[in-house]
Amino acid sequence: MPFTPEQIESFRQDTPGSARRLHFNNAGAALMPRPVLEAIQRHLALEMEMGGYEAAAFARREIGGFYQALARLLNTGPANIAFAGSATDAFNRALSAIPFKPGDCILTTRDDYVSNQIAFMQAGQRFGLRFIRAACLPEGGADPGSVEQLIRQHRPRLVAVTHMPTNSGLVQPVEEIGRICSLHGCLYLVDACQSAGQAPLDVQAIGCDFLTATFRKFLRGPRGAGFLYASPRALEMGMEPLFLDLHSAEWTASDAYRPQPGASRFELWERSYALMLGSKVATEYALQAGIEKIQARATSLAANLRRQLADIPGLHVLDRGSRLSAIATVHCPGRKPLPLKAALEARGVNSSLSTLNVARLDFDEKGVDWALRFSPHYYNTGAEVEQLAQIMRELLR
Ligand SMILES: Cc1ncc(COP(=O)(O)O)c(C=O)c1O
Repeated sequence: MPFTPEQIESFRQDTPGSARRLHFNNAGAALMPRPVLEAIQRHLALEMEMGGYEAAAFARREIGGFYQALARLLNTGPANIAFAGSATDAFNRALSAIPFKPGDCILTTRDDYVSNQIAFMQAGQRFGLRFIRAACLPEGGADPGSVEQLIRQHRPRLVAVTHMPTNSGLVQPVEEIGRICSLHGCLYLVDACQSAGQAPLDVQAIGCDFLTATFRKFLRGPRGAGFLYASPRALEMGMEPLFLDLHSAEWTASDAYRPQPGASRFELWERSYALMLGSKVATEYALQAGIEKIQARATSLAANLRRQLADIPGLHVLDRGSRLSAIATVHCPGRKPLPLKAALEARGVNSSLSTLNVARLDFDEKGVDWALRFSPHYYNTGAEVEQLAQIMRELLR
């Protein structure tokens, strides 16, 4: 059952910004619903009144709800969840925990997130690792056959896949790749930064050892907050990030420490409890709305937008792949991207601009050096999609 018009209206009532802007930048940062802002403000006010440490102690039970909410979102247990400052922070902590030896190999895809690719290159240089990428299918997206063939050939220590790339509407087959990884005993790290809150995420079905994401995108949480999932296997193998502190480990003797048994070994002691509480409420808000319904509406708005944009002369829709997400990307040959984005902004449209340095392989293959990204969410409307298409038509006339 899709959302009713009354439900959409109520989501929009909770989202004051939706009345003022055409917000098509949910893949950048979504508009927070009012309860998220209120949770953050409540805790900051408590900190002002009581003191930061005292406020955290006072809100201990509620803070524990952060782990419960994430566990429900991902189909795992609270002890497998860690709070992080961003998706990249979570990803780098996971990467730093892999017991690489010189000569080890990391297998990734041609569509993995730019910062992840940079981290692989840097880790490669520092630790003497090799770094390879699976081939793409003709229709776009990683070819699971290539993943399996490269695993047989190179025996990678780690396979890392971005579920939904930042700069295109592609959805990678993370469950299928997970089955291949478990068949061959590879560690598996999934970047779910764009899929958390946009699509159902079941870490058991994906079969990953680590999964990382942010709250500010499709989960509609605050900026400056992310999370990490660590599997029971990763924890039992004793994987621990560089570097631990007095929260993630215990100083047990003058020359000995013991990492925490759960995923809290991936956290640091200091963090924003206000943002944790806002993230908890954002996750509960998404669960309450229903992730399947969210996905159905957001992807259908994006598909509708792609159809309307594709009819505009001078505009190319770039998205490829057998399954597409709520991210739509377009290029307008011969146009300068910055004035186009500024003209959209002047008409109240929030969008995002990707340039070659964030999507080298993908854009090289598509023969473009920039793309405008429009990413609707479930609180957007069909009328907004039509308005955006009309604005693009006028701008390109
Ligand atoms: C697929 C993907 N992974 C990782 C990130 C990085 O997230 P953060 O900025 O929270 O570190 C992004 C941000 O756009 C992303 O789209």
